[in-house]
Amino acid sequence: MENKSILIILALFLCSITIPVMVNSKYHSEKSIHSLHLKKQKVTHLHFYLFDILSGNKPTAVQIAQPNITIGYKSTTPFGHLYAIDDLLREGPNESSKVIGNAQGLYISSSQSEDMTIVMYIDFGFTKGKFKGSSISVFSRNPITEPNREFAVVGGRGKFRLARGFVECKTHFFDPIPSNAILEYNVTVLHY
Ligand SMILES: *[C@@H]1O[C@H](CO)[C@@H](O)[C@H](O)[C@H]1NC(C)=O
Ligand SMILES: *[C@@H]1O[C@H](CO)[C@@H](O)[C@H](O)[C@H]1NC(C)=O
Ligand SMILES: *[C@@H]1O[C@H](CO)[C@@H](O)[C@H](O)[C@H]1NC(C)=O
Repeated sequence: MENKSILIILALFLCSITIPVMVNSKYHSEKSIHSLHLKKQKVTHLHFYLFDILSGNKPTAVQIAQPNITIGYKSTTPFGHLYAIDDLLREGPNESSKVIGNAQGLYISSSQSEDMTIVMYIDFGFTKGKFKGSSISVFSRNPITEPNREFAVVGGRGKFRLARGFVECKTHFFDPIPSNAILEYNVTVLHY
């Protein structure tokens, strides 16, 4: 009985001196790249269509803010207009094509001149197949009236952890009022 309580006291004492040693108070430390257990780097190609729909009773893009003054060139998306999106990604350009994911985020009308540019802050998430649950992050300007655009893939989640790459984009369909669009995406991603 006595021995047991001595052991408990000893254990508590040991804990009280080991806790400060175990807790690492530094906010940074160096790690070996091998500790990430990365597989061989590979290149994945993705092809899909993004449906950006502003009309109807369930739009996938909605305006969430705008400046309280008229600035910049008069266009369907004047400078400073901010949109939130939850756009569907489909295998083909038809509305009945299989949905493979969604693009969630923001885009802002970013140009004061007449060239109609937006800047996109968008996470492209996949809900079907090999990349279900993974996503790629796109952060880029997008001069929407140019026939061929390129965007930067700046990162990713899941199977696309540490991704980088680029998107080649073309407008497949565009209706300026109320600016519904179907866009073709070819994505080239380097990941592990
Ligand atoms: C917009 O600007 C006008 C003129 O400066 C001002 O009277 C009005 O209150 C502003 N509206 C909002 C919603 O801030
Ligand atoms: C989409 O597919 C449906 C059914 O296959 C077809 O009737 C329709 O014409 C297609 N639409 C377009 C724009 O290709
Ligand atoms: C995507 O790649 C396919 C096949 O190479 C090509 O036919 C298509 O024009 C490309 N689209 C874009 C937007 O780059």
